Amino acid sequence: MLLELGNIFKWVNSGGQRIFLLKDINLSVEEGEFISVMGPSGSGKSTLLNVIGMLDGFDEGEYQFLHESVHQLKEKHRANLYKEYIGFVFQSYHLLDELTVYENLEMPLLYKKVKGSERKAMVADMLDRFNIVGKKDLFPTQLSGGQQQLVGVARALITNPKLILADEPTGNLNSQQSEEIMQLFKKLNEEGVTIIQVTHSEKNAAYGSKVIHLLDGRKIASE
Ligand SMILES: Nc1ncnc2c1ncn2[C@@H]1O[C@H](COP(=O)(O)OP(=O)(O)O)[C@@H](O)[C@H]1O
Ligand SMILES: [Mg+2]
Repeated sequence: MLLELGNIFKWVNSGGQRIFLLKDINLSVEEGEFISVMGPSGSGKSTLLNVIGMLDGFDEGEYQFLHESVHQLKEKHRANLYKEYIGFVFQSYHLLDELTVYENLEMPLLYKKVKGSERKAMVADMLDRFNIVGKKDLFPTQLSGGQQQLVGVARALITNPKLILADEPTGNLNSQQSEEIMQLFKKLNEEGVTIIQVTHSEKNAAYGSKVIHLLDGRKIASE
């Protein structure tokens, strides 16, 4: 088991009322799964992904990640856990516009305090693998959306994570670019990377092996 959520609730208080963002979420994810999360806008998809990625906390329930109880961990230990095992891909890429492609890819390694020579080798390797060696000195705004997302995925992968969390990764891409990203996810998944993606597209969801449907913060179905 890679991770397990048990009876997770998350809420905010507003005007003396409790507004639930997640309600009683139970979810088990095995290593090697490829899961799609679907649901209308505002149903809690991003919140769920952020909880899984430990970017957000929750108010009730239990979260086990690789046999660690995330809800009981100190912040530093939790940060080490996600830096080690989780890579994020965002709809709007979240690349740093003032940094080159090379420097963007290097960033997660700097956070992990990987040494200079090793860092160089890892970035070079990733540039090579994604066929973007020629783009290494360009800035994100000099790339197409599809190329930016390729860099986004490369950056998520550079630390060799077990889990990729992708929040509408193709939301800003045309159909050909989307297809490329989905093919890439498929290949990564075949290589053993666990993937959880949020998508509005049935076609993208079909790349995964399981679909979870959310409505008003609740899991309403899973297929
Ligand atoms: N920090 C917050 N405070 C108040 N409401 C929030 C907060 N974060 C998210 N929400 C609300 O929670 C609901 C779920 O949001 P989100 O997870 O972003 O949905 P989705 O990704 O499915 O569109 C939305 O109604 C949103 O407005
Ligand atoms: Mg969202």
